Amino acid sequence: MGNMSAIGVLTSGGDAPGMNAAVRAVVRTAIAMGIKCFGIRRGYNGLIEGDIFELTLRDVSDTIHRGGTILYTARSPKFKTEEGMEMAINNCKKFGIQGIVVIGGDGSYRGARDLSLRGIPCVGIPGTIDNDIASTDYTIGFDTAMNTAMEMVDRLRDTTQSHERCSVVEVMGRHAGWIALQAGIAVGATAILVPEIEYDLRNEIVPKILNTQKSGKKHFIVIVAEGVGDVDKIAAKLEALTGIEARATVLGHVQRGGRPTVRDRQMASCMGYYAVELLSRGVGNRVVCYRSGMLIDTDIYEALNMTKPFDVDMYNMANVISI
Ligand code: ADP
Ligand code: F6P
Repeated sequence: MGNMSAIGVLTSGGDAPGMNAAVRAVVRTAIAMGIKCFGIRRGYNGLIEGDIFELTLRDVSDTIHRGGTILYTARSPKFKTEEGMEMAINNCKKFGIQGIVVIGGDGSYRGARDLSLRGIPCVGIPGTIDNDIASTDYTIGFDTAMNTAMEMVDRLRDTTQSHERCSVVEVMGRHAGWIALQAGIAVGATAILVPEIEYDLRNEIVPKILNTQKSGKKHFIVIVAEGVGDVDKIAAKLEALTGIEARATVLGHVQRGGRPTVRDRQMASCMGYYAVELLSRGVGNRVVCYRSGMLIDTDIYEALNMTKPFDVDMYNMANVISI
């Protein structure tokens, strides 16, 4: 297909800091190549409803440092229906959209694959704080989310230390423990619980806390990924079994907002540029991936079939350096 004259860009699924930087790069790269760029609001919903507008160079000014997404985001169950898909394709025709950059997670990639199969080439960019997309080592938003979690736990540590307590902190990650693992290492957590690895509170975590207490430790941080379970219950159990007063804190959606870090702005900018470069050559049904320090692209179908094994070595290392 070569010579595109117009493309679209949308953000879909959970938002992530750095999505705006990616949108900005997509718009600027397209316009630099002489390609019109349409913004599609609220993910696939905007495509279905025709909530589509042309983006100018200056529409994306003053956005690189902002979290959230100026295009809004949504989950769109209707897009999975035949009726929704037809409406989306008709709107692409109506606006002359010949390709789409989809910024989101695996779910959004599935939509991009379906659109590509129907003749609208799409390129996916990994955007989610969870870093749980198998085809890429890095997803936009992960660094900012980890830094936010770290900063919040640093604050918690002050009061945990003053009261000689145990803080049980829930970080985001319904299915993935990547934020918990990395932020847990960064805050010096005594224990890190993730959905990927089984744990035994009574026979592993409790003895570990008591051993560190014997060697003089007076306050304790336990980081728990959202997918593991109720932190209030975990805190109550730990308190009952150790005799150390425990408090649970849920960091929640603060981790999804805020100014993107250098890493997220830089990665998002490069991925946005890369995606448009692909689309401009008529290449679709691909996702942009960061692997072994390089940006590459992979077939969406292949990307969706990949698995991302949890970093058990790093998890074990974290356990050693927290005794
Ligand atoms: P994420 O992209 O963050 O994984 P979701 O899983 O919520 O987020 O997916 C975002 C949107 O992508 C969904 O609301 C839906 O419109 C579309 N999508 C998800 N799964 C599929 C699928 N199997 N087929 C087509 N579209 C899908
Ligand atoms: O995918 C990112 C994420 O923040 C998960 O870690 C979390 O479980 C989920 O989104 C929450 O999504 P929401 O509250 O927007 O439905």
